[in-house]
Amino acid sequence: MLFMISCILRYSAQFYVIDDRIGLGREFDGIGGISGGGATSRLLVNYEEPYRSQILDYLFKPNFGASLHILKVEIGGDGQTTDGTEPSHMHSNDEENFSRGYEWWLMKEAKKRNPNIKLIGLPWAFPGWVGHGTQSPYLFPNVTANYVITWIMGAKQHHNLDIDYIGIWNERTCDPAYVKVLRDILDRAGYTNIGIIAADGDWSIAAAMLNDSYLNDAVEVIGVHYPGTHTVKEALMTERKLWSSEDYSTFNNDSGAGCWARILNQNYVNGRMTSTISWNLIASYYENLPFGRDGLMTAEEPWSGHYVVDSPIWMTAHTTQFTQPGWFYLQTVGNLTSGGSYVALTDRKGNLTIIIETMTHNHSQCIRPPLPYFDVSPQKVTFQLKGSFAHLTDLQLWYSKLDFETKKDTLFERRSPVKVYNGFFTLKLDVDEVYTITTVTTGQRGSNPEPPKSRPFPKNYSDNFTINVHPFSEAPYFADQTGVFEYFRNSADNGSHAFTLRQVITERPVIWAGDADQTISIIGDHKWSDLNVSCDVLIETPITGGVFLAARVDQAGIFVKEAKGVFYWLYANGTYKVTNDIGGKRVLAEGLSGTREGVWYTLTLIVKGYFASGMLNGYPLWENAVVLEPKNGWAALGTFSFEYAQFDNFQVNAY
Ligand SMILES: *[C@@H]1O[C@H](CO)[C@@H](O)[C@H](O)[C@H]1NC(C)=O
Ligand SMILES: *[C@@H]1O[C@H](CO)[C@@H](O)[C@H](O)[C@H]1NC(C)=O
Ligand SMILES: *[C@@H]1O[C@H](CO)[C@@H](O)[C@H](O)[C@H]1NC(C)=O
Ligand SMILES: *[C@@H]1O[C@H](CO)[C@@H](O)[C@H](O)[C@H]1NC(C)=O
Ligand SMILES: *[C@@H]1O[C@H](CO)[C@@H](O)[C@H](O)[C@H]1NC(C)=O
Ligand SMILES: *[C@@H]1O[C@H](CO)[C@@H](O)[C@H](O)[C@H]1NC(C)=O
Ligand SMILES: *[C@@H]1O[C@H](CO)[C@@H](O)[C@H](O)[C@H]1NC(C)=O
Ligand SMILES: *[C@@H]1O[C@H](CO)[C@@H](O)[C@H](O)[C@H]1NC(C)=O
Ligand SMILES: *[C@@H]1O[C@H](CO)[C@@H](O)[C@H](O)[C@H]1NC(C)=O
Ligand SMILES: *[C@@H]1O[C@H](CO)[C@@H](O)[C@H](O)[C@H]1NC(C)=O
Ligand SMILES: *[C@@H]1O[C@H](CO)[C@@H](O)[C@H](O)[C@H]1NC(C)=O
Ligand SMILES: *[C@@H]1O[C@H](CO)[C@@H](O)[C@H](O)[C@H]1NC(C)=O
Repeated sequence: MLFMISCILRYSAQFYVIDDRIGLGREFDGIGGISGGGATSRLLVNYEEPYRSQILDYLFKPNFGASLHILKVEIGGDGQTTDGTEPSHMHSNDEENFSRGYEWWLMKEAKKRNPNIKLIGLPWAFPGWVGHGTQSPYLFPNVTANYVITWIMGAKQHHNLDIDYIGIWNERTCDPAYVKVLRDILDRAGYTNIGIIAADGDWSIAAAMLNDSYLNDAVEVIGVHYPGTHTVKEALMTERKLWSSEDYSTFNNDSGAGCWARILNQNYVNGRMTSTISWNLIASYYENLPFGRDGLMTAEEPWSGHYVVDSPIWMTAHTTQFTQPGWFYLQTVGNLTSGGSYVALTDRKGNLTIIIETMTHNHSQCIRPPLPYFDVSPQKVTFQLKGSFAHLTDLQLWYSKLDFETKKDTLFERRSPVKVYNGFFTLKLDVDEVYTITTVTTGQRGSNPEPPKSRPFPKNYSDNFTINVHPFSEAPYFADQTGVFEYFRNSADNGSHAFTLRQVITERPVIWAGDADQTISIIGDHKWSDLNVSCDVLIETPITGGVFLAARVDQAGIFVKEAKGVFYWLYANGTYKVTNDIGGKRVLAEGLSGTREGVWYTLTLIVKGYFASGMLNGYPLWENAVVLEPKNGWAALGTFSFEYAQFDNFQVNAY
C-alpha cells in the first residue's frame, strides 16, 4: 500500500487534454532562417558540388533536415551588417543590377527544393544616396519605398521569385509615415499580397498601431527580435500576427540546440508568436568574425568541402517536418507540470502534431535575453485526445535527447508508433528531450555521405580575378567588411589587367553598424602570422586616393573600425605609409613612393615575427618596421576612402 502511494506521488497524474472542440488557436506561419545581416552565407556559395547541394538539402529539402518554411534574406545595402557587407541592387540611384551577391541564388535554391517556402526581404543598411546625405532612410520615404520595391520587382523579373513579406529597417527606428508610404506604393504597384513586417526590433510598434488604425492596417505582422518567448499586452490587442522575426543567435553546439528547441515551442506557449526565425540560417562566414557559428549548421570551409550538420538542424525538424504554414495551433498548449512545454497543431483535415520539449535551464540559454531560472525534472505525462482526434489509434513518434553528460545525443530518431488507448497515451519524459507525436507519416532523417575532413585555408592562394570562372559578383573567399568588391571588366586595359576586382562604393552608406572610413575585404586564415602577400593595385582617384594591402588583420565585422594589423598604404600623391591599424593612427613607417593614380603597381608585404617589409614593383621600399601586435589575423586589401580602385593578381604565401 505504502509502495503504491509512493508510486502515485512519484508519478503524480499529469493529464493534458488535446482538443479542438473548444476552437483553435492562432494560425501557424512557419519556422525560418535568416541569410544575411550580414553576409552570413558568404562562404557557402564557394563550396564545390556535391557538397553545396548537400548543405542546401539539409536546410531546405522537405522531409530531409531542417526543411525550413521561411527564408528571410538581407536586401543588401552596401554597408556592414555584422559579419560583412552585402551589395545593393542599386549602388547609385541611376543604375540597377540584380546579379550581385548570393541571396538571389540562395532564394532560387530554396525554392527549387521547396516551392512553398516563404520569402522575406529586409534592409539593414542602405546605399548612401537613399539617405540624401543623412544617416536616415526616412528623409524621402518615397525614394526608400521605391528602392525596396525595385528589389521586389527585380526578384520577379530576373529570378522569377515572388517575395511574400517585406520589412522596414532592421533593429533601427521605424517611421510610421514610411510604413504607410511603403504600404501605399506596394498596393499601387499591385503587390497587395506582400505583407509588411514591422518593426524587426522591440514591441513598441504595437502601441503605435493601437493608436493609429491606418498603421495597424498597413502592418500585417508584428516582428520582434529576441523576445525571450514573451509578448506584451498591446501586441495581443492589435490582433495582428506576432512573430519572433529574429531569434536564437546562439553558438550551435548542444546548448544552442537546447535554446532553439525551447523557443520553438515557447514562443507560442508564452508569447503567441506563430513564427520563429533563426539568425542565422547557416554559419558560412569566417568563424573569428563576430558571433561565429551562430547558425543552424556550419559550412565555413569551402576550400575543404567540410561542413557540420549541427544539432539545431534536428531540433528544427521536430517541428518543420510535421506541420506547415497554414496549420493552426490548438488552444490546448502549455507548460508541463515538472518543466518543459507542449504545443499541438492541426491542418484542420484530421492531422495532428504534438511537440514536447523538456529543455533544462542550464542547457537551453540563448544569447539573449537572460533566462530566469526554472526547474525541469523527469515526469510521466498522459495525454487525452478529444474532438477530431478522439479516434486516433497509432501516432508516429520522433525523439531527440541532448545528452550533456555522455555527449551521446539521440537526434531526430524515429521510434515505434505510440499506441493510443481510448484516446489516452502516456510518455515517460526525461530532461533535455524533444518528442514529436504525429499523424504525419512523411518524416525522414535525411543523410549524405560524410563530407571531407576539415582543413585550414590553403597556405598558398592566388586569384587573378578572371571573370566567368565563377558565376558570382564576389571573388571566392574575399569577405567584404566595408565597401563592396566586385569582379570588373576593365575596358581601359585589354591586356594583363582586363579582368580585375574593383571596389565600387563611392559614398558612405546609411550604415547599420560601424563601417570603417576605409573599405576593406578580408581573406584567409585568422591564425596566419608570418606571410608574404602581394597584389597589383590601381588607384583611380587623383590626389586623395589610396589603396592598401594588409596582414594580421585581427578583427572585422561590426568591429572593423578597430581592426589592427599591418597595413601597407600607397597613395596617389606619391607617398606610402605603414600603419598598425586600419584607421591609420599608429604609423610604423612612411615616405615617398612616386606613385599616382591610373598606373598599375605591384605591392608586396612581408611579415615575419616582429618585422614587416614592403616592396613596390619588386623593389624594397621600406624594411624592418617593428610589429609588436597583433600576432595573427587575416590578409586584406582595400582603399583609403569610399573610392574606386582595382586589384589584380592577388597572391598570399603563409608559412
Ligand atoms: C509619395 O507616395 C505617396 C503614396 O504613394 C503619394 O501619395 C505621394 O504623393 C508621394 N510623394 C511624393 C513627394 O512623391
Ligand atoms: C497616440 O497618439 C497621441 C495623439 O496623436 C500621441 O500623443 C501619443 O504619443 C500616441 N501614443 C503612442 C503610443 O504612439
Ligand atoms: C556551447 O558553447 C558555448 C559558447 O562557447 C559554451 O558556453 C557552452 O558551454 C557550450 N555547451 C556545450 C554543451 O558544450
Ligand atoms: C511557462 O513557464 C515559464 C517558465 O517557468 C513561464 O515563464 C511562463 O510564463 C509559463 N507559461 C505559461 C503559459 O504559463
Ligand atoms: C494528413 O496529411 C496527409 C499529408 O501529409 C494527408 O494525406 C492526410 O489525408 C491527412 N489527414 C490524416 C487524417 O492523416
Ligand atoms: C546550472 O549552472 C549553475 C551555474 O553554472 C550551477 O551553479 C548549477 O549547479 C547548474 N544547475 C544544474 C542543474 O546543473
Ligand atoms: C608555397 O609557395 C612557396 C613560395 O612560392 C613555396 O616555397 C612553398 O613550397 C609553397 N607551399 C605549398 C604548400 O605549396
Ligand atoms: C588566371 O588564372 C587562371 C587560373 O589559375 C588561368 O587559367 C588564367 O590563364 C589566368 N589568366 C591570366 C590573365 O593570368
Ligand atoms: C551586374 O553585376 C554583375 C556582377 O558584378 C556583372 O557581371 C554584370 O555584368 C552586371 N550587369 C550589368 C547589366 O551591368
Ligand atoms: C578594349 O576592348 C574594348 C572592347 O573590345 C574596347 O571597347 C576598348 O576600347 C578597348 N580598350 C582599349 C584600351 O584598347
Ligand atoms: C617571402 O618574401 C621573402 C622576401 O622576398 C622571400 O625571401 C621569401 O622566400 C618569401 N617567402 C615565401 C614563402 O614566399
Ligand atoms: C597623401 O594622401 C593620403 C591619402 O589621401 C593622405 O592621408 C596623406 O596625408 C597625403 N600625404 C601628403 C604628404 O600629402
